[in-house]
Amino acid sequence: MPVSKPEIKRVVIIGGTGHVGTYLAPRLVAAGYEVICLTRGERQPYQSHPAWESVQRMVVDRTAEEKAGTFGQKVQALEPDVVIDMICFTLDSARHLVEALRGQVKRFLHCGTIWIYGPSAQVPTTEDQPRRPFNTYGIQKAAIEAYLLHEARYTGFPATALHPGHIVGPGWEIVNPAGHLKNEVFSRLAQGEEVALPNIGMETVHHVHADDVAQIFMQALVHWDKAVGESFHAVSPAALTLRGYAEAVAAWFGQPARLRFLPWPEWRQTVTEEDAAITWDHIAHSPNASIAKAQRLLGYQPRYSSLEAIYEAVSWLIQQGRVKTTLPSTPW
Ligand SMILES: NC(=O)c1ccc[n+]([C@@H]2O[C@H](COP(=O)([O-])OP(=O)(O)OC[C@H]3O[C@@H](n4cnc5c(N)ncnc54)[C@H](OP(=O)(O)O)[C@@H]3O)[C@@H](O)[C@H]2O)c1
Repeated sequence: MPVSKPEIKRVVIIGGTGHVGTYLAPRLVAAGYEVICLTRGERQPYQSHPAWESVQRMVVDRTAEEKAGTFGQKVQALEPDVVIDMICFTLDSARHLVEALRGQVKRFLHCGTIWIYGPSAQVPTTEDQPRRPFNTYGIQKAAIEAYLLHEARYTGFPATALHPGHIVGPGWEIVNPAGHLKNEVFSRLAQGEEVALPNIGMETVHHVHADDVAQIFMQALVHWDKAVGESFHAVSPAALTLRGYAEAVAAWFGQPARLRFLPWPEWRQTVTEEDAAITWDHIAHSPNASIAKAQRLLGYQPRYSSLEAIYEAVSWLIQQGRVKTTLPSTPW
């Protein structure tokens, strides 16, 4: 007896071996999708998983193909039912792909960022608040979101936008309690040494475990009638103040948090220019995003609080010797 082909079967992930793809591709395979992953082939997923044997990997350089005007056609030729675009950073890039896929693709999921809002205003930020992005990355991401949602609502192009916070997981450096990426801050807190924080440590960061980002992409696919034409935050249930974050990390190591607070102009002199710029980007946004809409419409239930996600990432950094602690090896 002939078996009818399910309507939504073939998924193309553009940029599927990074933080999110590491978790998303195995989830898609487990859910029965046929998965094609496009990357330049320069990196491997952060964790091995048997599901990758079922993932078709294709080497494509998006930047080069876009320059040649061929990227959209390349994706379209794969006849995807679903396209998950993890690495779109300009409006031109989004337009090029949408025009190639219009009328063919049934679901298009864009990975955005909570930096589309610019500085937080009323918190937790809900998806209906104004976008006031202030750096190129946030401005382009907000423009892409506006374009995709317009296309979904007025032309029927089936798009949704999912906006992660700071993505955390075992395998890479994460945003630390001083708002930059140097592991030394964790080492100092772990060893009871003083750490300087900018201002009074009340600015916020909003992390999310990479697997929870993967979860929301899956939930959007499942609840497509609610997801299409909408955007959703992919963050943990609650943001952290820098101070609260530092105190929690020190406590993991049985240390009091020895914190010193310096006004921004003084604090920035205590770190490299690069670290100061990264911290400024984080505290100028001070994200604090709501997950209420994703919970209500998509059934999103993050497995990790911010601190649980960070704990897993820091445990890995300790195992790698990148964060120093005087504690014996357990419980890490
Ligand atoms: N990281 C964060 O904290 C954060 C926070 C908010 C939002 N986001 C959003 O998350 C998305 C990135 O997701 P991610 O963090 O999972 O990605 P990621 O870890 O940066 O990985 C990027 C993926 O894209 C591939 N790639 C990079 N350049 C490519 C190119 N020119 N052509 C084809 N493939 C390419 C990489 O593989 P190859 O190197 O092998 O090509 C890899 O699979 C972005 O849209 C970003 O705005 C990230």
